[in-house]
Amino acid sequence: MVKPPAYREIYNESATNPAGFWLDAASAIDWITPPVTALDESNAPVYRWFPGAELNTCFNALDRHVLAGRGSTTALIYDSAMTGVKKQFTYDQLLTEVSSFAGVLFAQGVTKGDRVIIYLPMIPEALIAMLACARIGAVHSVVFGGFAANELAVRIDDATPTVMVTASGGLEPGRTVEYLPIVEKALALSHGSIRTVIVKERRHVAGLAADFAQTTAHDSTHSPANDQPVTWVTWDDEMARASPSAPVAVAATDPLYILYTSGTTGNPKGIVRDNGGHAVALAWSMKNIYNVHPGDVMWTASDVGWVVGHSYIVYAPLLAGATTVLYEGKPVGTPDAGVFWRIVEDYKVKVLFTAPTALRAIRRVDPNLIESARYDVSSLETLFLAGERLDTETYHWANDGLHCPVVDHWWQTETGWPIAANLRGLAPLAIKPGSPTVPVPGYQIEVLNGKGVPVAAGKEGNIAIRLPMPPGTLAGLWGRADGYEKSYLQVFPGHYATGDSGFIDDDGYIFVMGRTDDVINVAGHRLSTGQLEEALAGHPAVAECAVIGVKDELKGQRASGFVTLKAGVFIENSVLCAELIALVRDKVGPVASFRDVVVLERLPKTRSGKILRKTMRQIVDGEPFIVPPTIEDVTVLEDLTLALVGHPGAMKPA
Ligand code: COA
Ligand code: AMP
Repeated sequence: MVKPPAYREIYNESATNPAGFWLDAASAIDWITPPVTALDESNAPVYRWFPGAELNTCFNALDRHVLAGRGSTTALIYDSAMTGVKKQFTYDQLLTEVSSFAGVLFAQGVTKGDRVIIYLPMIPEALIAMLACARIGAVHSVVFGGFAANELAVRIDDATPTVMVTASGGLEPGRTVEYLPIVEKALALSHGSIRTVIVKERRHVAGLAADFAQTTAHDSTHSPANDQPVTWVTWDDEMARASPSAPVAVAATDPLYILYTSGTTGNPKGIVRDNGGHAVALAWSMKNIYNVHPGDVMWTASDVGWVVGHSYIVYAPLLAGATTVLYEGKPVGTPDAGVFWRIVEDYKVKVLFTAPTALRAIRRVDPNLIESARYDVSSLETLFLAGERLDTETYHWANDGLHCPVVDHWWQTETGWPIAANLRGLAPLAIKPGSPTVPVPGYQIEVLNGKGVPVAAGKEGNIAIRLPMPPGTLAGLWGRADGYEKSYLQVFPGHYATGDSGFIDDDGYIFVMGRTDDVINVAGHRLSTGQLEEALAGHPAVAECAVIGVKDELKGQRASGFVTLKAGVFIENSVLCAELIALVRDKVGPVASFRDVVVLERLPKTRSGKILRKTMRQIVDGEPFIVPPTIEDVTVLEDLTLALVGHPGAMKPA
């Protein structure tokens, strides 16, 4: 067997000759016009990869494997623990579905550069719709099903899509999620770009009241802004009469998708991903980071609504000619804590990728991994984790119990693929619990102090990436010409600011410790405290509010809200709390998992009026804290500590 190359060798090559390195990596992609130049620096500090080159991402994910004679290889395995439905698609079959749906979109007037919003549960149609957009050069924007109508409307208004693809409903344990009322509300709230809604009916899903075909309510909806009617059609009807569409050529620098993520304000940021850099980076990552090759089975247990799902459920496995698993269900309770291992056995999964919170959920129910012993999980070569910090306790539990390497790796929606990892396609490095190991080739990581000066090894600071970043990373923010620079590039000139803090040890291992901004991470889902505060502030009784992320054993963090009442307002605490919890669910969505509210007389603030969120968080988490010298009134902290005693959210004051 050929010995895999050493990490250091490959990393140095990427650093000393990035252009040569990435042009070489680009040969893994079939181009219509192959790249000659790697990097366009003309608009620095915003860089573009592979200027002048042309390709089609969908062709690379599907057609070329079929043309290479691999059409009968399984491309997609769908396994729904919610409905019991299992279905497999070969590359041939998936290509047929995707070409047809591309034809459906085309028939609805969608062409190159147009946006399509996809609001679907974890069903094959989600992946098919994404690839169909890529096929005709349209730009998809997938919205996670756990977001409320308001969040959907905000994304519609920002991306201004003409078509929405949705389903009659989704399933969560113990309840059905009726998508159509959410869609109708979002259409009413938004400003009228949508012309057509394509609905996948899930007739076999028991309990779904809104069977689209049975209702006449959807003949047309009028959007309030310009009173244009919205036409509602069904996926199946349109597919039955579709003429397949061929892949179109797009520029490597053209957008493939917009994915909204939480920033520090209430407005989500539309991260734009290009076609060429994305395809090159993901293909490179499959071989070198994940060690996944044609025919291997990769299962990313996430959701297509998140970047992890975009990259490693949909695009990367298919670009690599591998088999991807699309799982509709939870790690526990659907039906038990053995479901992950059942899927590994059933489909001979080689690489499993999930979030630490999913492992903590399994551990809580099955601490001794008795369930895993019921299944043959010997096919599992590596378990990759990302989305939040992998705590060492969970790492040891999984590593000891599963008999396969457990690999933490760190990345963000913005980067689209890992920034730091233990690259399993190269000679693997030793794992240090608590660290996602080393920078992935292409990323030059530095830890900077507040003034932008690199700090010594072992010292914590702001993690920044020296520009240019490698292919596949964000091309910009949708609709905000200078948004990328303002949000990420001006803080530390010459660098991209990750918003994460951490340190690099003497061996060059990176440790990512947490966010430096108001972004919190709940069960691997990124949320903005500003967004939650906006929702709370909408309650007529609330004068001021602060939301902080506090420690949570299962979800890593959970959002806790602190409110003060307007003068002269009298409302029972329990009534107010229930109303505020319902308000967040209605405005942001169930994904926020918002359940903790504390009513205070005053919020702790500095003399200049800034709410002391960090001190509040330390108090709630029971961490030692220093009373800020600028505090307006120290007794407010005592009030806060007292208010937490007996609080149902299991908060323990210091
Ligand atoms: N559509 C509608 N609602 C959704 C949803 C979706 N696609 N996904 C989640 N929700 C709802 C849940 O039903 C839940 O609602 P509830 O308050 O009525 O119970 C709420 O949003 C919170 O969901 P979640 O955070 O998933 O919590 P949970 O208690 O249902 O499950 C875990 C906990 C740990 C099992 C689950 O969070 C998990 O599997 N996490 C993996 C994280 C992940 O994949 N992250 C992506 C980055 S890698
Ligand atoms: P998202 O954009 O939703 O993928 O969230 C990205 C953020 O999640 C990062 O900025 C980190 O704060 C956190 N994160 C993701 N992966 C890791 C990891 N492996 N270790 C620590 N934090 C992580």
